[in-house]
Amino acid sequence: MKTFFKFALGFIVVLVLAGAAGFGYLNLAFPKVSPAENFQVKSTPERLTRGRYLAENVTGCFGCHSDRYLDRYNFPLKTETRGQGGFLFDKKLMGLPGSLSPPNITPYNLKDWTDGEIVRTLRCGVDKNGKALFPLMPYPNFSKLCQEDLYSIVAYIRSIKPVTNNPPATKLDFPVNFIVRTIPHDAGAYPPPPDRKNALVLGTYLVNAASCAACHTPVDGHGAPLPGMDFAGGMEFHFPDGSTIRPANITPDKKTGIGDWTKDYFIQRFRQGKKMADSGTPVKPGEFNTLMPWPEFGAMTDGDLGAIYDYLRNNVKPVNHNVEKFTPPRTQTASAK
Ligand code: HEC
Ligand code: HEC
Repeated sequence: MKTFFKFALGFIVVLVLAGAAGFGYLNLAFPKVSPAENFQVKSTPERLTRGRYLAENVTGCFGCHSDRYLDRYNFPLKTETRGQGGFLFDKKLMGLPGSLSPPNITPYNLKDWTDGEIVRTLRCGVDKNGKALFPLMPYPNFSKLCQEDLYSIVAYIRSIKPVTNNPPATKLDFPVNFIVRTIPHDAGAYPPPPDRKNALVLGTYLVNAASCAACHTPVDGHGAPLPGMDFAGGMEFHFPDGSTIRPANITPDKKTGIGDWTKDYFIQRFRQGKKMADSGTPVKPGEFNTLMPWPEFGAMTDGDLGAIYDYLRNNVKPVNHNVEKFTPPRTQTASAK
């Protein structure tokens, strides 16, 4: 027995040392990302207009990097906090392996960053100092944006009002804090701008840029998309009032998805969603609410929404999956039973 324990102890020591060496290696060797290029993005009226449209209505920068009213319909952004970061995404809300408050992206925080460093963050997922970012920041998606669109976003976020705010640093659980370092990599050549006359190409580009799948494709316990469930909905978001919100099935399934929606109905649904959200209606704890970015996407152009519709209808497999979009908290009496 004694020798067995000695052996077991030795084995554990070896394991621990190997583990430490492994994590030391991860620390030193990753992330494998080249230094940021040193360039300046020229700000032009065209870029500011395009960048504003992308940042506000397509890529969702402010949806994550701002604070929100939790007691109003659609959790609208607090205008004065636009870009300041701070809204907490964590285990409770969406099963994340840690707590992330998106950083401040107003000039207050980014004033010392070069444009090359911001572009590298958006394409490769490392911060100014080369630290890996957790891919809740959708850099894998942003790496597929064309150069002109990325430059437009940079020109625009440089122009917004600085807001003084220092959100808490990201805290990731072990071992994700090490694994996250292995994800960022150089993004390679820029893809060409999408052909705006080809609705499917444009739709593919926009659905990626807007990270629709990040909410609408359910994932397993490790955050990996469930096979065969692309855009089939059902991922759970747990809100502090005890309610659960689930993104809808937006596959072309006729019964449980958007299979019988016309393009016109689809576009009108976004316009109506925006109108409802803009009303700022107070919502009491336990009443229906949604985190679909209706106010942002609801102001996309008819052409862009139409292209997204074409993509969903033609490039996505219909999946029969019934999703209950909202479950109110269990009432006092129900939980007392
Ligand atoms: C789904 C939420 C989400 C969206 C959408 C998003 N971000 Fe982020 N972003 C984050 C999170 C979370 C982090 C921090 C990640 C970490 O610390 O590991 C981050 C980090 C950053 C950083 C690094 C800042 C720093 O101080 O380290 C920049 C710059 C940034 N985002 C810019 C943008 C821009 C520009 C857009 C839109 C094109 C955008 N983000 C869209 C969640 C998001
Ligand atoms: C932050 C998470 C999130 C993102 C990102 C998101 N959605 Fe949603 N979406 C939801 C939720 C939650 C619902 C269900 C509640 C509702 O209908 O408002 C929903 C509902 C919808 C509906 C209504 C479906 C129905 O049956 O009524 C459509 C259409 C839709 N989303 C399309 C999209 C598209 C297209 C994108 C990308 C451009 C997208 N969503 C991105 C969360 C999201």
